Amino acid sequence: MISFESDYVSGAHPEVLKRLVETNFESLPGYGDDKYTVSAREKIKTVIGKPEADVFFVSGGTQVNQLVISTLLDDGDGVVAVKSGHINVHESGAIEFTGHKVLAIDGKDGKIVPEKLSEYLESDYDDHMVRPGMLYISHPTEYGTIYSKKELCEIYGICKKHSIPLFIDGARLGYGLSCSKSDMDIKEIASMCDVFTIGGTKVGALCGEAAVFSGIRAPERFIAKIKQRGGLMAKGRVLGVQFDALFTDGLYFRISEHVAGMADMLRNGLIKLGVEFFVDSPTNQLFPVFDDSVIEKISGKVKYSFWEKAGHGRSVVRFATGWATEKEDIEELLTILNKVLKND
Ligand SMILES: Cc1ncc(COP(=O)(O)O)c(C=O)c1O
Repeated sequence: MISFESDYVSGAHPEVLKRLVETNFESLPGYGDDKYTVSAREKIKTVIGKPEADVFFVSGGTQVNQLVISTLLDDGDGVVAVKSGHINVHESGAIEFTGHKVLAIDGKDGKIVPEKLSEYLESDYDDHMVRPGMLYISHPTEYGTIYSKKELCEIYGICKKHSIPLFIDGARLGYGLSCSKSDMDIKEIASMCDVFTIGGTKVGALCGEAAVFSGIRAPERFIAKIKQRGGLMAKGRVLGVQFDALFTDGLYFRISEHVAGMADMLRNGLIKLGVEFFVDSPTNQLFPVFDDSVIEKISGKVKYSFWEKAGHGRSVVRFATGWATEKEDIEELLTILNKVLKND
């Protein structure tokens, strides 16, 4: 069955897997001291144009968010995020588990609204309240939307004015940068935040996220802090080899461009079929709205993620393209939908 359920439903991109296999019999130092991890770190610093950056690798997205946020915040401080933000909705309270509150504010289409952020940061708080100690955004957002350079610049300016770090969750960073509406590259992302992540899990790796401290230094003894949180892999090579492969010959961006192209094809096909969207997402996650009867008919033929009820017997689903999505998969999905929509 064709699957558009998510961008992490396939294993590793063949070029990544090939490097894991090729290096399999090498005996390498543990805990990220191997030559591949060192090389991956250097390649990332080069691609972002910041030789002074600090780069670390961990296995998962929730883990890297918890690690970065809990090590940068002072005791009792909280992290500001939009209500729909991944850390607020989909991480089982992983941030709160570390003693830091997520300070959720209203956003628009998954994004921080600069005026609302300013208003929030300028409101009075006293010693009996949780102090906003950093801002979390994701790019793309939970709804697949992206920030423009102007918006990001404005948001970073507000963070600087209030002396709080800006953290960008880039679990799908490649897809945010490679979509046709993007006006930023990875160098600009790196220079318009204090710390960001480069997601591997959803962009061709078996697993792994890079934490990149591009505007500030990483907290002292960061490796020890990863270890304390149970995130330091003895076989750090698993992450190093994969990121080294992803940042060799632009593989990370080649994968992202393929995925963006597939999403464009799907979006255009859905538009031609007259499908309505819950949100105008330019990236690889699309959120069409269908009658529940249509959803029932396509179930069993195609895998998708149920998103939410839209009322009046309609629901939002998510179709995501990934590295393994091919043109033929999109054609098949559109054929299925065409038949169902016509007969409905
Ligand atoms: C934006 C974003 N951040 C973080 C995560 C968490 O990643 P993981 O499921 O690997 O913990 C996800 C997962 O979907 C995500 O979409």
